[in-house]
Parts: sequence; C-alpha cells; structure tokens
Amino acid sequence: MAKKIVSAIDVGTTKIATIVANVRSQDDIEVLGVGVVPSHGLHKGIVVNMDEAKASISESVKEAQSISGMRIDSVCVGVTGRHITSLNNRGVVAIPRDDRLVRPQDLKRALSAARSVHVPEGKKLLHAIPRYYALNGDERVEQPVGMHGARLDVETHIITASVSSVQNLVKCVRSTGVEVEDLILEPLAASEAVLTPQEREGGVIMADIGGGTTDVAVFRGGGIYHTSIIPVAGYQVTSDIAIGLGLPFNIAENMKKRYGNVTPGLDTGKTDEVGIENGHSASYRDLCDIIHSRMEELFELILLEMPTTDYRTLAPCGLVLTGGTANLTGLAELGKSVLRLPVRKGQPLGAGIYGITDILYDSAYATTTGLILWQARNRERSAWQVKRGGILGSFVSLLRRLKWQKRFLLPHRRE
Ligand SMILES: Nc1ncnc2c1ncn2[C@@H]1O[C@H](COP(=O)(O)OP(=O)(O)OP(=O)(O)O)[C@@H](O)[C@H]1O
Ligand SMILES: [Mg+2]
Repeated sequence: MAKKIVSAIDVGTTKIATIVANVRSQDDIEVLGVGVVPSHGLHKGIVVNMDEAKASISESVKEAQSISGMRIDSVCVGVTGRHITSLNNRGVVAIPRDDRLVRPQDLKRALSAARSVHVPEGKKLLHAIPRYYALNGDERVEQPVGMHGARLDVETHIITASVSSVQNLVKCVRSTGVEVEDLILEPLAASEAVLTPQEREGGVIMADIGGGTTDVAVFRGGGIYHTSIIPVAGYQVTSDIAIGLGLPFNIAENMKKRYGNVTPGLDTGKTDEVGIENGHSASYRDLCDIIHSRMEELFELILLEMPTTDYRTLAPCGLVLTGGTANLTGLAELGKSVLRLPVRKGQPLGAGIYGITDILYDSAYATTTGLILWQARNRERSAWQVKRGGILGSFVSLLRRLKWQKRFLLPHRRE
C-alpha cells in the first residue's frame, strides 16, 4: 500500500477520540495525532443531544488537526449501541458454465444472495462480511476465484443498525465540515487492535468494556462469528458506587479508578477507609464489593449473549478484555473464575501501529486505533454507502478548506 493519511473518530460515551495516522503498509502505521475530549450528548453509544455531540466532535477533530498538523477532510466513524443486531447467513449460487470455473462475478452473486436477508423496518445493513466460502457444498476454501465447482456457498456475518441512530451520528460529524467516508462497527475495530491471528483462528471472545456499552465480538476459524452490544459498562459501576456509598458521581468515578480492585481478596491487609478529595471517604472493602458484584454480573451478561451455551468449545482461546474498564485491577482474574477459560487484557500496542502517543498502552483506545487498522488492512467497506453531503455540504467543505489554507498554509493530504 502506498503511503496514505487515514483518519477516524471513535465517538464513545465518555470520550471522543479523533485519530490521524500515516499508513505505510498494513504493519507499519504511524499515529500522527490524537484529539481526545470528554464526550457530551451521547448515552450508551447513541446520540441523545445533537448540539452537545456536535460540539464535542468538533473539539476533538480540531485537537487532532492541531497535534498532527494535518487537515482532516474525511473520516471513518465507529458505530455502536443496542440498536445493532447480527446474524450469520449463507448465500448459495450455481456455477452454470461448462468449465465450472469460479469467476469474480460468481463471488458477487453469492455475496448478494447472502445479503438478501429480511431487514426490519427502520434498520439497514451495516456490514456483510464473508466468513468463508465452500465449493460443492462442503470443501471450505479461502479464495474460490480460479477454482472449479458446480456450486459456490458463501457464509457471511450480517450486521444491521438503526437508520435513525446512524443518520444522527453521521449528521453530527458532517456538521463539523468533515465528510464521513465509512462506518465500522466498533467491536470489529477493537478486535483488529487486540486479537492475534491465532486467537481468531482457534476461537476467542473479545469484550470492549467502555463507559456506556460492552461491545462483544466472537471470532472462529479466522473470521467473525458473532457480534453483540450490551448496554452496561463502566458508567453503571460508578453509578452504583455513588448510590451505594452516598458519594457524588465524580468522586465515585475517581475512587473506582484509583482504588478499585475487583478481587480484593487477593489484596490482603487493605481494609481501611479510602478517600481522595473534599473529605469524602469510603470503606475499601465496600468499594471493591460493589465493583466485584457489577463485574461478575457483566461477565454473566457476556455469556448470555453467546450464540451457544457451550462457549468453551466455541472459544477455547478464551476472553480478551479491552476498553477503559479493562483497566480495573483484578478483572482478568475474576473473568477466569467465572468463565473457566483463559482471560487476558488486550491493548493496541504491538498490532503494527506506533507513534509518540500514550494511547497505544491504554485499553480505552483499542477501538480508536482499531478504526485505523481496519482501514489499513483493507477490511471490507461497510454496506451502508454513506451519501455525500450534497451541494450545501460541498460548499461548507470548500469554505472550510479555504479557511484552513489561510490559517495554517497546510499541505493537502499527503497521499
Ligand atoms: N483505571 C481504571 N479503572 C477502572 N475503570 C476505568 C479506568 N480507566 C478508565 N475506566 C473506565 O472506563 C470507562 C471509559 O472507557 P472507554 O474510554 O473505553 O469508554 P468509551 O469508549 O468512551 O465508551 P463506550 O465505548 O462505552 O461508548 C469509564 O467508565 C471509566 O470509569
Ligand atoms: Mg468505546
């Protein structure tokens, strides 16, 4: 791949992160800048206040531009929320010609057959990702073009999303003068950043436990097998600490991050009061008990979302935890005792992406970096086909470009 500047926005419930990277090859990606600002106007992954969301996105884009020295014209945007649904579907076509040679157009026909599922009113196809192909019904092949067979099957993972939720998100981003190039389901992006090819092949569950949602993806046989969004994450833990211990939300959040330990039993001798500011304090044991209960429940919810009760056979490589809440001390140990499977914390570092930025060491940015990795690795474009902004959009974009050139005399995208 030629050197290319790629940008993305991770519109999270607690933070908005805009990232700009220089993609030299699939495994040589330099992060040029990241603009991270607190998120407003979002709840459990969806926009609930357009003005607040627009302001946060705009601030994050500006920060990323100023740090990277690059103008951001278009971005890829992460999508999440309870409105997401997924299923696996098979498309089957005959290879009618005498030579039975599979051509690219046969692949297209098979994919289009797989995509023709019933999509409920108000929903639209977001992704249709080929998982594997089969020739003559049973021979599993990776790339059937050029091979011979009478019948071609394609097994796909289909993801649908609410039209209005996605439109609202796209509208917010566009209002900042940035075009939306593509949309990517967030757990697919996070998986790019934290899973190894061996885990994807053997069977693994990835859980990105953020602020408002826990985004789950299951991989098997090298491809995506299941995706699901659970509307429970770190925010609910903090909220329970605040209610349970009678603390203001921000103090409860600080206490959770600073002293929270999911398995305090392993941390003997620490039973005293903990406190940080404005005279607020709490029992260390009570704080950890609340966090422990919430996280235990969350692991149970993740298991309930599995497509089968035999999740150990489905995912022998276990569970990879990421997202800001994966930073909780002792979380992997608790996961191991609930799931009886290997559990590890996943962070973006080592996925072929580097740069002078701390985000590569923090699980909270798995989705942010994954949005770049997904594009760099030429993974499938979404099925959404985002419409361009029209004449008005182009005009706004032109004005913005002129303003930028005047202010910074920056080069156009260095492609
Ligand atoms: N050290 C820590 N210990 C415990 N929790 C933490 C820590 N650091 C961050 N968190 C929690 O992580 C959550 C934010 O995670 P993240 O940045 O992944 O969410 P987000 O991407 O904004 O939201 P979402 O993906 O749910 O829309 C917050 O609830 C925060 O309290
Ligand atoms: Mg997130």
